[in-house]
Amino acid sequence: MSEPSPMTDNDTPTEAAGPQMSIDVVSIFPEYLAGLQLSLIGKAVDRGHLRLDVHDLRDFTFDRHNTVDDSPYGGGAGMVMKAEPWALALEHILTGRGSAEDGDSPDRGLVDGAAAGPRPTLIVPSPAGQVFDQRIAEDLAGRDHLVFACGRYEGIDQRVIDWAGEHFDLLPMSIGDYVLNGGEVASMVMIEAVSRLIPGVIGNPESLTEESHEDGLLEYPIYTKPSTWRGREVPEILLSGNHAAIARWRRDRRLERTAEVRPDLLEKLNDLNKDDLAALERFESERSTVTE
Ligand code: ADE
Repeated sequence: MSEPSPMTDNDTPTEAAGPQMSIDVVSIFPEYLAGLQLSLIGKAVDRGHLRLDVHDLRDFTFDRHNTVDDSPYGGGAGMVMKAEPWALALEHILTGRGSAEDGDSPDRGLVDGAAAGPRPTLIVPSPAGQVFDQRIAEDLAGRDHLVFACGRYEGIDQRVIDWAGEHFDLLPMSIGDYVLNGGEVASMVMIEAVSRLIPGVIGNPESLTEESHEDGLLEYPIYTKPSTWRGREVPEILLSGNHAAIARWRRDRRLERTAEVRPDLLEKLNDLNKDDLAALERFESERSTVTE
């Protein structure tokens, strides 16, 4: 789905009520996340729907070189992110207290003073996590406070992940079965998918209900003017003005596309009506005639 319609100036901002969600991101490359200031998410922050803070992990180190990594115990290639800077950064977020630069000492546990209330959700992007999807995006969109811990190198010392599980609702999350260089891009993917579901972030909420994955089906093909382009016509039914027929045609295209490209999604659906099932049977028999 491309960029949905932005909010208009007539939309009521919620500054008075405060942001509907807080997002913190911890990274050694905070500049990576600058893209989030653009477009609808940047607008949502400006309008007070969303609070977004990006923290530099190196601000929670105390040595001259701002070291965040070390060699793995047991040997092996690559480096491992050290536990303590992560613990300090996460404690800073939990307590709203200052970073190393504000004078916290490196070995002082701050979590005892953490604000009471529901635990924030800590998302740790990792190829070893549960695979992120629209259902998880919807779940996360209903939460108050998300924290993204962007690991680099071979990953983060497991002890600080285990420790964080005592203070956060911990969710190791993968964005797909491939390996990235770090969690920044994966975090941006998840932040974009989640924040666009927050009420008010997208001006026209209908654009949320009419898109791929919203109800487990892929999106229908879309067209705009001119009606003939380089000899290719827009499907005639879309010019007919017959809304019921257009709705059925669109539904059929969604079913057809999903059956072709993502049959695994169809298997998960249990609310297909008899017209849907008839359409699927028709596509199936058309396909088997073509391949015979
Ligand atoms: N970090 C590296 N690869 C990743 C992936 N596929 N998903 C989330 N985080 C990652």
